[in-house]
Amino acid sequence: MEETNHIYPIFERMLGRSDKENLLGQRGLMIWFTGLSGSGKSTIAIALERELHRRGLLCRILDGDNIRSGINNNLGFSEEDRKENIRRIAEVGKLFVDTGIITIAAFISPSDELREMASSIIGKDDFLEVYVSTPLEECEKRDVKGLYAKARSGVIKNFTGVSAPFEVPHKPDLTLDTSVWDVERCVSSLLDLILPKIRIKNI
Ligand code: ADX
Repeated sequence: MEETNHIYPIFERMLGRSDKENLLGQRGLMIWFTGLSGSGKSTIAIALERELHRRGLLCRILDGDNIRSGINNNLGFSEEDRKENIRRIAEVGKLFVDTGIITIAAFISPSDELREMASSIIGKDDFLEVYVSTPLEECEKRDVKGLYAKARSGVIKNFTGVSAPFEVPHKPDLTLDTSVWDVERCVSSLLDLILPKIRIKNI
């Protein structure tokens, strides 16, 4: 490209990630939950955040329904919009991780392409993929938000698991099925995975 876009990032003059991590006494990390609507992603994210917070660790949850009512309120559920949804979340998530914060993302992120994009934006060394594998039948039985019924009757189009695809992750770092394990057990296996990765000093 001949022309420049006249943008001059100044990151090199700012304090770096390790300054923030040393201040906080923890390492930044992205814990990325993927799974169907109603699978339990947000519930586990909230319980995990509480457990980490209780141990003196600073976290930030990014959650589909919240992000979509704010920064991403101009996006729908076409393939293109889902991609832009995940791209923005990954970019925002990267800022949190670079600030040393344990960032917990709960988004359907229904395809390999989307999850790989998120991982490459954030950096794979900082990215843990957690597949909440609760089966469709169970999610639909719960239908907490009444969305599956609306999807089945055609009121909602492109609904993941009903009229839009969900690709099962190939090699998640952890798989949690909330129809088999209760929230406490899910959180305790998450803690086993996460704590060794985020400790700097004795917490
Ligand atoms: S993603 O596919 O782009 O990753 P995201 O996690 O942000 O989705 O949003 C999912 C939430 O949006 C669901 O939990 C549900 O409450 C709501 N929703 C509304 N319409 C749809 C739809 N067509 N497919 C999936 N979720 C939908």
